[in-house]
Amino acid sequence: MSLRERIAELEAELERAEARTAEEVERFRVSMLGRNGAITHLFDAFRQVGAEEKRELGQRLNRLKRDAQARLEKLRGGLDRTPQVRNDRGDPTRPAATGRLGGLHPITLVRQRIVDIFSGIGFSVSQGPEIEDDHHNFSALNFPPDHPARDMQDTFFVADAKDLSLRTHTSSVQVRVMESSKPPIRTVSPGRVYRNEAISARAHAMFHQVEGLYVDKDVSFAELKGTLDHFVRTLFGPDMRIRLRPSYFPFTEPSAEVDMNCTLCGGDGCAVCKHSGWVEIMGCGLVDPTVLANCGIDPKIHTGFAFGMGVERIAQLLYRVPDLRLYWENDLRFLRQFADGPFRS
Ligand code: PHE
Repeated sequence: MSLRERIAELEAELERAEARTAEEVERFRVSMLGRNGAITHLFDAFRQVGAEEKRELGQRLNRLKRDAQARLEKLRGGLDRTPQVRNDRGDPTRPAATGRLGGLHPITLVRQRIVDIFSGIGFSVSQGPEIEDDHHNFSALNFPPDHPARDMQDTFFVADAKDLSLRTHTSSVQVRVMESSKPPIRTVSPGRVYRNEAISARAHAMFHQVEGLYVDKDVSFAELKGTLDHFVRTLFGPDMRIRLRPSYFPFTEPSAEVDMNCTLCGGDGCAVCKHSGWVEIMGCGLVDPTVLANCGIDPKIHTGFAFGMGVERIAQLLYRVPDLRLYWENDLRFLRQFADGPFRS
């Protein structure tokens, strides 16, 4: 191959040269311009060139060398843009920073906390459908046919399906559990429920409940009270007190409403506790014998207790959120406070 052809070949090679690492740049330099490099060899060969070509080939050879040097600089420059380890950039072995990840919704966090406490004392978790039939949501639970809870004002009915509605409580799940299993039964039913309420700071047409059921021999009201006391102290702290007020539910007898110390004002009185120092957190009672019988459990042998609470309410007392609507507006500034921050209890 003539010197002229060899120069042309190397010119093309320079054009194609690429390097991704410092080692590749160095390999390029050595192979072209090093003591044994291709261009260096051409300068040796140039000594044999005849006088008539010397001038022209000498110029081309010099240009080739300059081009090779320029190419080398360019390859080095390309490397500069890749990240370099420098002392002022901190520890290069630390894990890569990830973008912001999503987090659990505050209601999910609180529901998990509630369920965990009951799991810890032997309760299983049961779930059921949100579209429920009259039997599971009302009849089996001893709601008389004319009970106001069945009224159009409280219940969302499924159009054209007389028997179906959105469940108004997760007591419906407890009916399903009692129908399909034998005592002893210890279960909590977390889930969404629906009531036809005007949406305001204090009420929503969709909210979440955790209801609990314990059926066995000799289940007493004292056990109910002890269980709820344990729950409230575990979630809110050992100084929290509960009190029970007589109440009425079709499916429990006796029935009670449970109050706890107001966490928002510490008992001094505020708008949330209506200046009483106590806030209502759930309903409870001993399962009415009629309900046990409706579900195939012999009330002469077994007794049970049941309770039901609203998760939003518990969350409000844990997080001091003044307005229920904030939970469902999907405002990231609100939601991030829970996803990133520590859980307050
Ligand atoms: N199901 C009732 C409600 O939704 C709560 C409740 C459950 C009350 C169990 C007593 C016993 O309001």
